[in-house]
Amino acid sequence: MCGIVGYIGRRNATEVLVDGLRRLEYRGYDSAGVAVMSDGELIIKRSVGKLENLEKLLNGDMPVGHIGIGHTRWATHGRPSEANAHPHRAGDIVVVHNGIIENHAELRKALIKKGHEFSSETDTEIVAHLIHQFTEQGHSTKDAIVRSLAKIRGSYSLVIMNVKDPDTLYLAKLGSPLVVGLGNKENFVASDIPALLPYTRKMVFMEDGEIAKMTADGLVVRDKDLHLVKKEVKTITWDPLTAEKGGFKHFMLKEIFEQPKILEDTYGGRVAPGTGKVILKELDPLFKDGKFIYDHIYIVACGTSWHAACVGKYWLERICRIPVSVDLASEFRYRDPIINKNTLFIPISQSGETADTLAALKMAKEQGAKTLAICNVIESSIARLSDIVVYTHAGPEIGVASTKAFTAQLTVLLLIALAFGRKLKKIDASDVEKRVAELLELPGQMKKMLDNAGVIKAIAEKYADSREVLYIARGVHFPVALEGALKLKEISYVYSEGFAAGELKHGPIALIDNGTPVIALTPNGYTYDKIMNNVEEVSARGADLILLTDEGNKSDSVKAAATIYIPKTSWYTSPILYALPLQLFAYYVADHKGTDVDQPRNLAKSVTVE
Ligand code: M6R
Repeated sequence: MCGIVGYIGRRNATEVLVDGLRRLEYRGYDSAGVAVMSDGELIIKRSVGKLENLEKLLNGDMPVGHIGIGHTRWATHGRPSEANAHPHRAGDIVVVHNGIIENHAELRKALIKKGHEFSSETDTEIVAHLIHQFTEQGHSTKDAIVRSLAKIRGSYSLVIMNVKDPDTLYLAKLGSPLVVGLGNKENFVASDIPALLPYTRKMVFMEDGEIAKMTADGLVVRDKDLHLVKKEVKTITWDPLTAEKGGFKHFMLKEIFEQPKILEDTYGGRVAPGTGKVILKELDPLFKDGKFIYDHIYIVACGTSWHAACVGKYWLERICRIPVSVDLASEFRYRDPIINKNTLFIPISQSGETADTLAALKMAKEQGAKTLAICNVIESSIARLSDIVVYTHAGPEIGVASTKAFTAQLTVLLLIALAFGRKLKKIDASDVEKRVAELLELPGQMKKMLDNAGVIKAIAEKYADSREVLYIARGVHFPVALEGALKLKEISYVYSEGFAAGELKHGPIALIDNGTPVIALTPNGYTYDKIMNNVEEVSARGADLILLTDEGNKSDSVKAAATIYIPKTSWYTSPILYALPLQLFAYYVADHKGTDVDQPRNLAKSVTVE
C-alpha cells in the first residue's frame, strides 16, 4: 500500500517521479504528491484523488530539478486530503513513507509539547519532525535519521530529502519494500520493480533494518548496526512492455489475455514431456534418502492466493497423500498453530510483500518450520525470507484484481504436487506424463476460450445490473467458485459469494429467490452427479442459472439461462480452465457498469499493512 519513488540525476526529476508514480498507482490512489528541488528551492505539489489530478496540477507549472521524491497514497492515518498527502515537510526535511508508525500518537504528543506544529493527521509527518528535531540539534542528516528510527515502532520504507543537502536522498527500510535502480550518473528508488523498468534493469534490494545514502554517482548501504553492507546488484529480466497496457482497455483484460503465454512461461523448463518427470530441483532439499522429511504441510496466504492454496490442498492430498492445512494469513498469525521442524510451511503471494503473509512466514520460521514460498515478484520480502522459492513467471501484475498470477500459482502448485507425488512414489511416471500432457494443452484451450470471450461478454452484460450473484461448486472447483465471487465483488461492487454446493441446504439456499443469478461450476468427474443435484435444487427454487460445464455435456434436465462450455481436460487441470470464464465475467460486468476496473475503490494491489 502506498507507492514511493525517488530520483537523482540528469533528467527532470518531476517527469521521472510522475512516470514512476503512474507505474505504482496500483499500490494506492487516494492522493499523490511530489517534492522537487528546483533552483535551490523546494517545491511541493500535492493533490487529492488519482494521479491524473496531480498531473493536471503540474501541467504548465512543473518544477524542473534534478532531485525529488514522490508518493501515491492509500490512506491509513487521516482521510484522503491534500494536507494528508505526501510528501510531508518539517523545516528542511521532506519525507515520503510506506508503512505504519504504530507509536505515532505518543510521538506526536511529545513533539507538540516541544513546540512542533503539525499540518496533517498522518503518522508520517512525525518522521519528518523527528529528523528535523535532530538536525536542528546539530546532527548530520544520517545521524538524525538513525536517531529518529530508533524512536519509531512499526513498519516503513522511507525516502528522505534535506533541503540543505540537495544532492542526496536517504533511504530506510523496515517491513515495507524498497528497491534501488542503478543508472549512469543517475539513481532511482521505488517501492516496486515496475516503476524502475523503463530506466534500468540493474537493481539493489534493500533489506529490513538497512539505511542508505543515494547520490547520482553512488549508493552507500549500512545495516542496523551501521556497518557498511556490500549489496549484490541483480539484473531484472522483466520486459518493461509487460507493465504497459499494450492496446487493451484495462490492465486486467490484458492480464487475462496473457494467461496462455504465462502458463507456458511458468511450466516451461519444469516439465520434460516423454519422461514422466517434473523438474523442480529447488525441492530436492526437502527429501532425504527418497523420504519426505516433513509430516505436515501448511499453506498460508490471503485473497486470491488463498484460493490457489485451497486448490493446492486438494491436489497435494490426493496426489501425495500428505496432510495439508490451509489458512488465511491474518488468522494463522493470531492463532496458536502447531508448527515445528517437521512442518513444511508454504506462503503463497503474488507480490511477496503482503504484511499478514510475511508475518505468518516469520512466525513459522521462528517455530522451526522449513519454508517454501510460491511468489511472483522476484526478490520480494517473502521470496527472500523463505528457504526455498518456486517463482511463478507471470510478469508484473498491475490490475488490482489478480488474474494471471492466480492461474500461474495453480500451475506451480500442480507441478509441486506432481513432483512430490513422484518422489514419494505415490503416482506413476505414466500418470505424471498424462498430467504434463494436459498442462501442455492448456494454453491452446485457453486461447480458444479467449477467442470466444464475446459470448461471456454478452452474458455478463445481461447480469450487470444484478444485486447479487451466487457461485456454487464442489471439490477442487469450490475454491475456484470463491475466486470467481471475489473477482466480481472487488471490481464491480456486486455482492457475490461462493458456496460449497453441498452446504446449500445448511443455510445458503434460503437466499435463492425467483431470478437470483447462480453460476454453477459443473465439470465432469466424481462430483458431477452431486453438483447436478444441487443445480436442480436451486433451479427448482427459481434461480437464474449460468452453467459452466465441460464441452459435450448435455444438461437437458436443467433449464439454464446460459451455458458456457469449457474445453475437456482432467480433474487435475480443470480448475485452471474454469477460472478463466469467471475472470472474464467479472471483468465484463465491471466494464459495463463503468467502474474503475484496474483501481477499484478502497483497494490497493499490495497490502503491506495489516
Ligand atoms: O500479493 P498477494 O498474492 O499476497 O496478495 C493477496 C491478496 O491481497 C490479493 O490476492 C487480493 O485478494 C487481490 N486483490 C484479489 O484479486
